[in-house]
Amino acid sequence: MSWPETTRRSAEGSLEFGGVSAVDLAREYGTPLYVFDEETLRNRARRIRDAFLHAYERSRLVYAGKAYLSPALMHILLEEGIGLDVVSGGEIFAGLRAGVDPAEMIFHGNNKSRAELEEAVAAGVGLIAIDNDLEIALLESVAHDSGRIVEVVLRLNPGVDVHTHHKMRTGAVDSKFGFPVWDSQAEEAATRIFRSPRLDLVGYHAHVGSQIFDPMLVARTIDVIMKFAGCVHRRWGVLPKVVIPGGGFGVADDASGADVPIDEWANAAAMAIERACRDQGFPPPVLIVEPGRAIIGPAGVALYSIGSRKMVPGIRTYVSIDGGMADNIRPALYGARYAATLANRDPAGEPLKRVTIAGKYCESGDVLIDNVFLPELDTGDLLAVPMAGAYCLAMASNYNLSPRPAVVIVANRSARLIRRRETYDDLLRSDVFDPPVSAARDDRRLSAKKGSV
Ligand SMILES: Cc1ncc(COP(=O)(O)O)c(C=O)c1O
Repeated sequence: MSWPETTRRSAEGSLEFGGVSAVDLAREYGTPLYVFDEETLRNRARRIRDAFLHAYERSRLVYAGKAYLSPALMHILLEEGIGLDVVSGGEIFAGLRAGVDPAEMIFHGNNKSRAELEEAVAAGVGLIAIDNDLEIALLESVAHDSGRIVEVVLRLNPGVDVHTHHKMRTGAVDSKFGFPVWDSQAEEAATRIFRSPRLDLVGYHAHVGSQIFDPMLVARTIDVIMKFAGCVHRRWGVLPKVVIPGGGFGVADDASGADVPIDEWANAAAMAIERACRDQGFPPPVLIVEPGRAIIGPAGVALYSIGSRKMVPGIRTYVSIDGGMADNIRPALYGARYAATLANRDPAGEPLKRVTIAGKYCESGDVLIDNVFLPELDTGDLLAVPMAGAYCLAMASNYNLSPRPAVVIVANRSARLIRRRETYDDLLRSDVFDPPVSAARDDRRLSAKKGSV
């Protein structure tokens, strides 16, 4: 199970992260609260970066910002020499805000708009991963209008099926991402790009999915990419300067698993790329890997307060928390399985009971953890859920018009707020409506009561 590396129990029994007590954090910032441990974030980024550099000298690590792109957290990753994979104009904007050099960004997405491509080109984003025919035409036109030559990689659909949740597979035959390599589509796309005076085809990309635990799948993906690179080289003489086999390194979500061994992954990637270069006489390209979850997932913990409790005789006991699918939709979306522990007292030695942790939102499917063994939970107890750093806040919504949680970073016994809890005013900020005078008065009273941290 992936708790932050600094997780401890204090003498009083409270869980601590980065030397800061969960009880103090909840008191100061309220719950639900997302807590990121700076040491874990840095260590994980360094370990992945170093494993790849050790296995293959020409490696580069970029963080897949879709896992959770907070300027403050990204700034920490930047200090570790890590670039950024973005999938929208908003992520480019946040990356720039964090101080990322746009040349260190890779822009992905299966339906980038012209406006987003213009933003990327104007900002000087280093690489654009071309995903479809429309995009070739759009990007050509954007590059022409801006008078630039844009470096691109071609996103391939390698037809590599991985054994992960079907909603997390991106490289199987039936996928909306990339150009299929098994018919003429990818080669025709490469030809169009090669013929364009405005687009410079520097390499290839494929990302086959998330939560992958078998490193040989990355080797297979690289084999397919390099085979395709060989076809393009024979036809047009274009060498692959950059090869990107995506991210997707598996991380244990709950108590039952272990992370993928990153050295094995890096070695498998290095061996596949070196073998292909030897076979085809290519000079070694730059290898870029773009994990999201494996960097940020275990650095984050969600803290919730326990509220109501309901027993359905002979079936189950529901214990409700003050968050749920609006801050973490993964259990509802993917059936993702989480672990949890009591954060405000040490439950060691207490008998465990089987309960279902329910969210507070108006959906029966809003269940955070089904059938989990926990000590007796009382109203006001604090529940800590590990592995909450990835794809939770990134997919958070204001469902039921709920303000999204505050976010803090902990390090060296202190906490720093990096995102304040949303207020009711934030919820309606984008609505265009002039309230009647009386409603405006009530509205002011409510927002005055509901202060933010
Ligand atoms: C193109 C691309 N790269 C990298 C990732 C990161 O995946 P993960 O967070 O599983 O490492 C994704 C996730 O969807 C992706 O689509």
